[in-house]
Amino acid sequence: MAGKDVATMKVSPKVWRNGEIIDWDDARVHIMSHVIHYGSSVFEGIRCYNTSKGSAVFRLPEHIQRLMNSAKIYRMDPSFNRDQIIDATVELIRQSGLDECYIRPVIFRGLDESKPSFGVNPFGSPIDTYIATWQWGKYLGEEALETGIDVCVSSWTRITSNSLPSMAKAGANYMNSQLIKMEAILGGFSEGIALDDRGYVSEGSGENIFLVNNGKLITPPLGASILPGITRDSVLQIAREMGIEIIETQIQRAALYLADELFFTGTAAEITPIRSVDRITVGAGRCGEMTKRLQEEFFKIILAERPAPAGADWLTFVNDAGEKKTAVGK
Ligand SMILES: Cc1ncc(COP(=O)(O)O)c(C=O)c1O
Repeated sequence: MAGKDVATMKVSPKVWRNGEIIDWDDARVHIMSHVIHYGSSVFEGIRCYNTSKGSAVFRLPEHIQRLMNSAKIYRMDPSFNRDQIIDATVELIRQSGLDECYIRPVIFRGLDESKPSFGVNPFGSPIDTYIATWQWGKYLGEEALETGIDVCVSSWTRITSNSLPSMAKAGANYMNSQLIKMEAILGGFSEGIALDDRGYVSEGSGENIFLVNNGKLITPPLGASILPGITRDSVLQIAREMGIEIIETQIQRAALYLADELFFTGTAAEITPIRSVDRITVGAGRCGEMTKRLQEEFFKIILAERPAPAGADWLTFVNDAGEKKTAVGK
């Protein structure tokens, strides 16, 4: 089965909805669903890569665990557990006809048309779970991984964890991300970096951030209103394995300008170097040495060319029989 073209995007012709596989065209929600009005959704962004050993999803259990954590924070009780959503994701990819794709599970508060509830109080709205997939190329541009991108520091403050908890990947958080992203684009930049409510570096609109200084890898702690990124964690584990010193600490805005190297991490962005901030050139103005080394190891792991650090299983293979095979070299 081939993918389906929607405008210029190749999408899976199928969507998983509450335990059944439906057609893409039927994956619609009512305008009065709670999520439309009050932003009540949690979601994930996951990638499946076409490796030499077959299609494999990168850190699928960790992503679905984060989805369940996000739902728990917002007192959403989905009808499916982590393992069921993992199996559903693999099954959907198998049916999508896509060797390589981006996967978007989403849990949200919908509408029970037999007992509608339109107010802010979310408890009367049903919890719906969907999974969609589509083909998504390099998020920040094909060349970005090589040449780096130009970014700005946003005038918008990152959401504070006491208002919209950044530990949850909630749809509502992305209103803040949209303000950051729009400002950056309109200013001629590829992406914006938000500071937290104390003025320390937080993260990009959809990426975590790393600095390299004097051979050390520095990144903001989880307390800086960041999403606990799975790519961030992967980079930290790879760096640890490479013997690189890691420092998780508060970072001043000015330190961005003075870094030897700077890069974003994220499922969509992968490991994208940053060549300038606020039009100040960072380091040599291109992908730095350590960024390159980390990129190389990261890409080898996601393409099943080497095992993950400490023999961990980071790949879930989607084979023809629809069975799952985890781990490189097993
Ligand atoms: C706000 C934000 N920060 C960081 C990330 C990176 O997280 P991950 O590496 O798990 O994709 C994302 C992407 O999901 C994001 O949206």
